[in-house]
Amino acid sequence: MDAPNKEFAFAGSLEELKAKGRLVVHGRHRPILVIYDRGRVFALDNRCPHMGFPLERGSLEDGILTCHWHHARFDLESGCTFDLWADDAPICPIEVRNGDVWVKPTFGHANPASHWRQRLADGLAHDLGLVVAKAVHGQLVADVPRADIVRQVALFGAQNRDGWGVGLTILTALANLLPFLPEEEAYLALFHGARRVAADCDGEAPRRERAPLGSRPDAIVLKGWLRRWTRVRHREAAERTLLTAIASDPSPPVLADVLLAAETERVFADTGHSLDFINKAFECLDLIGWEHAAALLPTVVGQMVAARGAEESTAWRQPVDLVTLCEETASQLPGLFPASGARDGWSDHAALARELLGDDPARIVDALKAAIRAGALPVDLSRSLAYGAALRVAHFGTANEHADWETAHHVFTFANAVDHMLNRIGTSNADGFVPAVRGVLHGTMALYLTRYLNVPPARIPGENGEQLDDLPAHADTIRATLLDAFDRQRQVDIAARLVARHLTLGHSPQALIATLARAVLREDAGFHAYQMLEAGVRQFTVWGNTDAGRHILIAVARYLAAHSPTERAALQTADIARRLMLGAELHQESGAYGG
Ligand code: FES
Repeated sequence: MDAPNKEFAFAGSLEELKAKGRLVVHGRHRPILVIYDRGRVFALDNRCPHMGFPLERGSLEDGILTCHWHHARFDLESGCTFDLWADDAPICPIEVRNGDVWVKPTFGHANPASHWRQRLADGLAHDLGLVVAKAVHGQLVADVPRADIVRQVALFGAQNRDGWGVGLTILTALANLLPFLPEEEAYLALFHGARRVAADCDGEAPRRERAPLGSRPDAIVLKGWLRRWTRVRHREAAERTLLTAIASDPSPPVLADVLLAAETERVFADTGHSLDFINKAFECLDLIGWEHAAALLPTVVGQMVAARGAEESTAWRQPVDLVTLCEETASQLPGLFPASGARDGWSDHAALARELLGDDPARIVDALKAAIRAGALPVDLSRSLAYGAALRVAHFGTANEHADWETAHHVFTFANAVDHMLNRIGTSNADGFVPAVRGVLHGTMALYLTRYLNVPPARIPGENGEQLDDLPAHADTIRATLLDAFDRQRQVDIAARLVARHLTLGHSPQALIATLARAVLREDAGFHAYQMLEAGVRQFTVWGNTDAGRHILIAVARYLAAHSPTERAALQTADIARRLMLGAELHQESGAYGG
């Protein structure tokens, strides 16, 4: 035998191939199917690109190879599929020399990063989960920075849907968690983010571009205009105003101030989602670069101007008119905050959080005002609000309706978003942030309205000297037991106890967060689970491994345990894609299918 070179593997004699029609070449490489058809020889990966079924068992007709598992069809010469959900089959070079057939078992691409970038674009455009998973994996293996993948998906989502949606929120939340995640979980996070963006855009009309105004008014004027257009639900005007603000001064604090002032024209709009989406759009730009502000930020305007505010809701009007209470308090804010906004030293965040959990709205507002007089800045108020909202989840009684978890969750993620927006605005302009502080007032009243969810309050484990000594002590064992708990329904209390155990023993919070992320990423998680995890981790990082930090992660674990397990179908897709990419055999050719 005369090999073309050392890279080629011997497949068999041409005579044998002609007689049998097809041969499978095994070795250290992936199995290769060699086919003789109408005088020509072809070679391709024997594992069907859909789920790995051996293509040698498929049928061939008219140059079309059909896989018999889900009946995907492939052009034999190119490997390209006629059924996009199955993905293209990789082909490899063949050479016939002196009556022998040789194959070169390499399936690489000249420029893998570019190839997989295009495949991700294809997968997103056609909402092909398997292709998305392979393309994310391929880019990671090609050392494409994670932020580049997030950018590609985010810009696709912004351009191919008329408005920010759930998918972009999930993408951003998971991208925020990437620094906490090991390699495998990072792949899953990017896959889930991308697949949800693709699903959001599937069948949607693309976004229509708008242009900024020709003038460049200052931020105060633009803020006033945006509030006006939001009140009267004039989307076109609001988008042009925002685009003008971006063109005038694209600094994130200024834009945050402009948008939050407009967003809080309505109270707790769309049960907090509208403000949360705005915050996520800002965070997305932090990840992908603020040069994309004009492409991304206006996507939140449609929901903002259309959102239904709580002022239209009976619960906010009777028996106590909470909306009027918020308005009256907001009107007093300019006199409460010092002109400079530069006061340090107030640190009663935890105490204020507990006052915010009270059952008298007037006293809650008084507590906020007292804190401001004592030196609390807007970011102090929002920090207390976020902690109070986490405590509501941590104390959530499991006798409540299951759907009530979402009620508690909405307040927490809203509070987290308000906290981030206020931190972004900063304290340099005391007058400027006063309208934005309305978000804190709305959050406190939303928190007040959920007080019944803690009647009676669930006990927080590890408090008052509780030892939890019946639980494992070793960090790895605690985390493994936690994952086991998430394998079963309604393990809310044990999940909370294990988190408390892990943190009170001083084990790594980073490792615990990675485990909680693993618990979410292996599920077909709902939108709220991603939000809960990310908001919890972000608020935990504010407090660290303190009592408050522990309560926040306990809240996260309780919520996740109440929503696990699921079918894990997306995990199966991600796993098949990964194994196909790594060249593993998913199904044995002999025996499994009667051969
Ligand atoms: S079509 Fe081949 S494995 Fe599904």
